[in-house]
Amino acid sequence: MLWVKALHLFGVICWFAGLFYLPRLFVYHAMTDDQPGSERFKLMERKLYRVIMTPSAVIAVGSGVWLLTLTWRAYGSSLWLWLKLALVGLLIGFHLYCGRTLRRFAADQNLSSDRFFRWFNEMPVLVLLAILVLVVVKPF
Ligand code: HEM
Repeated sequence: MLWVKALHLFGVICWFAGLFYLPRLFVYHAMTDDQPGSERFKLMERKLYRVIMTPSAVIAVGSGVWLLTLTWRAYGSSLWLWLKLALVGLLIGFHLYCGRTLRRFAADQNLSSDRFFRWFNEMPVLVLLAILVLVVVKPF
């Protein structure tokens, strides 16, 4: 089980690297009005999303479900776990919204401002804090 938990934390940490960095790229991309600069951001966003963010999301969620099967008897009826899974659902929605935004930028059809993306960038920070308190402290 500890090997699975180590894999889980590896996936979670890599996933959050992308969840923190991609919205930051969107902030600067939304402020860019030169085409070469915009093309460079498109390449960085696409590589980050496809090579790092999505594979590590699959590792984090896959190993999480594996951990769930190993600890179901102990935690299956715990409120902290169901709240955590609801927050993970929110993170998956955030991830997919990043994918949609990335495609909009690629088609030069982004309508959101850099100010929107600065607020958008803060959401994973709050979700990470809440998940860590739930899964480490297990308050209820
Ligand atoms: C569908 C997705 C996920 C499932 C089903 C899941 C499930 C689990 C389970 C069952 C454990 C073992 C709990 C224990 O032994 O104490 C665990 C540990 C952990 N999970 Fe997840 N998890 C998921 C996603 C995440 C995400 C997105 C984070 C991001 C912060 C996260 C952070 C952690 C941490 C830090 C631990 C270690 C807790 C400890 O050892 O005290 N998990 N997860």
